[in-house]
Amino acid sequence: MGFLWALVFFSLLNLSSSFQPNSTDSQKYIIRVSNDLKPSMFSEVEQWYRSTLRSISSSLEFQRFEETDFVHVYKTVFHGFAAELTPRQVELIKTRQEVLAVYPNRILQLHTTHSPQFLGLINDNFIPTPSGLSEESDYGSNVIIGVLDTGVWPEKESYNDKGLDSIPSHWKGECVEGQNFTKSHCNKKLIGARFFPGSFYRKGYKSARDSDGHGTHTSSTAAGREVLNASSFGFASGIATGIARKARIAVYKICSTFACPTVDIIAAYDKAVEDGVDIISFSLGGPAHPYHLDPIAIAQFGAMANNVLVSASAGNSGPSSASVENIPPWITTVGAGTMDRRFPSDLILADGTILTGVSLYSGQALSQKTFFPLWYAKNMSANSIPSYFGTACMPGSLDPRLVTGKIVICESEGYAPPTLTGEVVKNASGVGMVLVNVGRTGESLVADAHILPTAAITVSSGKKLFSYLASSKDPHATIVSRGTKLNIKPAPVVTGFSSRGPHLYSVSIIKPDLIAPGVEILAAWPDGLSPTDTPSDKRNTGFNIISGTSMSCPHISGVAAMLKGAHPDWSPSRIKSAMMTTSYIVDNAGNHILDEATYNVSTPWDYGSGHVDPEKALDPGLVYDLTVSDYVDYLCASGYSEKNIATITRKMVSCKKGLKTWDINYPSIAVGFNQTDVLKYEATVTRTATHVSKDASTYTVKIDNPPDVLITVEPSKLEFSQKEQKLSYVVKISAKKFNYPTSVFGRMTWENGKQSVGMPIAVTQS
Ligand SMILES: *[C@@H]1O[C@H](CO)[C@@H](O)[C@H](O)[C@H]1NC(C)=O
Ligand SMILES: *[C@@H]1O[C@H](CO)[C@@H](O)[C@H](O)[C@H]1NC(C)=O
Ligand SMILES: *[C@@H]1O[C@H](CO)[C@@H](O)[C@H](O)[C@H]1NC(C)=O
Ligand SMILES: *[C@@H]1O[C@H](CO)[C@@H](O)[C@H](O)[C@H]1NC(C)=O
Ligand SMILES: *[C@@H]1O[C@H](CO)[C@@H](O)[C@H](O)[C@H]1NC(C)=O
Ligand SMILES: *[C@@H]1O[C@H](CO)[C@@H](O)[C@H](O)[C@H]1NC(C)=O
Ligand SMILES: *[C@@H]1O[C@H](CO)[C@@H](O)[C@H](O)[C@H]1NC(C)=O
Repeated sequence: MGFLWALVFFSLLNLSSSFQPNSTDSQKYIIRVSNDLKPSMFSEVEQWYRSTLRSISSSLEFQRFEETDFVHVYKTVFHGFAAELTPRQVELIKTRQEVLAVYPNRILQLHTTHSPQFLGLINDNFIPTPSGLSEESDYGSNVIIGVLDTGVWPEKESYNDKGLDSIPSHWKGECVEGQNFTKSHCNKKLIGARFFPGSFYRKGYKSARDSDGHGTHTSSTAAGREVLNASSFGFASGIATGIARKARIAVYKICSTFACPTVDIIAAYDKAVEDGVDIISFSLGGPAHPYHLDPIAIAQFGAMANNVLVSASAGNSGPSSASVENIPPWITTVGAGTMDRRFPSDLILADGTILTGVSLYSGQALSQKTFFPLWYAKNMSANSIPSYFGTACMPGSLDPRLVTGKIVICESEGYAPPTLTGEVVKNASGVGMVLVNVGRTGESLVADAHILPTAAITVSSGKKLFSYLASSKDPHATIVSRGTKLNIKPAPVVTGFSSRGPHLYSVSIIKPDLIAPGVEILAAWPDGLSPTDTPSDKRNTGFNIISGTSMSCPHISGVAAMLKGAHPDWSPSRIKSAMMTTSYIVDNAGNHILDEATYNVSTPWDYGSGHVDPEKALDPGLVYDLTVSDYVDYLCASGYSEKNIATITRKMVSCKKGLKTWDINYPSIAVGFNQTDVLKYEATVTRTATHVSKDASTYTVKIDNPPDVLITVEPSKLEFSQKEQKLSYVVKISAKKFNYPTSVFGRMTWENGKQSVGMPIAVTQS
């Protein structure tokens, strides 16, 4: 199923509104309430909320509330409720003193087995690194990951609980029964299951059972048990395992295939935190908003304040600049990179040229000795660039009289997902398909489980193909799948679709925070769902290989779970800091990580601090702590009014004067210089590092200056004598001149001979 495609497609065409389940639904609102103002005559907030609703309703309207009740009451990460309101009621409720904000319901969208090896957690013989993260954390056995997604297929082997210890005592949740889902579907692995109304609106099970596949894939990536002999039709075969193999999974089903309503998302955050999860895995998103206007950012703040780490996907709208979603500094935002495993498929032209693409086609192969006629629906000259939205091979557009027995050239990202495009070709009796990347994600490629021989090729290979077509009177070719190839270099590269920084609303926060594997990830898949979701595909697969930042996010959820297991007292900010400052920016060919969209060197706007290195994160040396009051200072410095801050934090605050946004103790540094403010191309930034290793240690700083920028650090040596000691330092950033276009990047690394604590530094002209 083309999750990646679906997300790209809907965000580009902005069709999301047509997926709102129905017009009544769009009149649901989320009401943020200041519970401190609850009069003592009400013992429960529900009674008070009900009286508020009565005060703004006619008797007829109120009768409806009595019948339908609230959509949700939020008590843990978000105080308030959701209800269906008329425009008149909305105006009235906004005037109530206790109402901090009113948000209309919005609809968000859903954005292996090699990844544990690629992450260095196990070797190729499946042996965990001795005394490494897996063992020190007992694979996250005492940690609970809440997965907010499309539910779960509980019978999958990935959720077996053989040999697991009893359920962690801090678990207070439930296994809620529903359609085809009983309490017996939960066990010591899958410890909880809840579902919310938006997740079965028009189709799907009225339970936590997954009718889509996304949630089964993400939860088994984060914490699936090891399954022997897994593969997707022979591709990527081996032992399948999630990252934190013993961590417990609690699923919160909030999405159907296309729609995840915010009213339900907030309810799921609220429940998950109340239930006692330690980590929330959130592989979905929508356009970024200022924090106080985004109830999800507020719920995520509540999760952080309750010591729960939120790992969220960055989005699949790359490589466009400033496309990153899930931007609050209090969550961990994950972009996607490739691994050193790919699924090559060669297009061999009759003149001998080989254009290597990718595919996961597994059926009867084309003859390698016969060349088949090539057919292209449009007349393409060597120089013409494919259109932004390919129209070749639209459903209904191919005439079998013209294409029977031919290899048909189609364009990616047309009006149909790539696998459905394959079905159009197959139905018209084409023998194979070339899927030419139209270039939205540049030179990036993603393999799909096609139903006929396919090579998905890059823009530049497409140009070579079109020049062959133009020069040959009778163009022919064949397609040869090369199966699963390992040790591909360079890897990782930042994949083209991974959403990019800079942060749309804050010059001093780098997002995404880091990258993790998100391309061609193998994980569990529901029974009875084909891997392609095309009408004619009746294949059943225990595992499916799909791509997206939805897939990179649960890798970080799993790593975070193991870090929490190894360091139970670490806060979300500490765990995140450990993952960020130990991440790497050099690929397996020894070069700076590249951007697959262009094959240029990538930057912190693409990968944040770098690619996660779980074993290094186990003992990071230094961490940067952040507390609720640090975030309040950051919000004050960012110019949020005290009322808007209270909307986020629930408490009235009084902002200190003279705060700077880049003084937030974030594990990366970003400053902005104002072009009109020519005298002040200089910023001082303070950071406070906490020593978390056992022994005394002395760190010295190493600086890579950005072009035309000078960075000095004072002091340049930090001497720690004991664990938990904190030391501060000041980073002075001065730009010599200001003629660069937007942003330049440098890096600061503290080294003690054994550990290396790195941070990107971004300098932006704003
Ligand atoms: C919308 O849903 C409500 C129930 O929630 C139903 O009564 C109504 O008929 C639906 N409207 C449309 C247009 O589907
Ligand atoms: C769900 O339950 C129905 C009725 O009990 C049954 O017919 C169907 O096979 C079940 N489906 C699954 C996937 O278990
Ligand atoms: C692994 O799976 C393949 C194909 O599904 C099968 O032929 C083989 O017997 C299996 N091997 C084991 C050890 O189960
Ligand atoms: C492509 O253009 C040539 C010359 O203009 C024409 O003869 C041919 O029929 C066209 N092919 C298609 C598929 O439109
Ligand atoms: C292909 O043919 C099958 C069987 O007739 C049909 O169900 C399916 O909708 C067709 N697919 C497309 C994309 O036209
Ligand atoms: C990035 O790659 C493109 C396409 O290859 C090239 O035109 C551009 O100059 C490169 N940019 C940088 C900064 O190297
Ligand atoms: C830059 O500074 C000027 C004057 O202080 C101010 O008016 C302007 O809004 C600032 N621009 C930005 C982008 O911060």
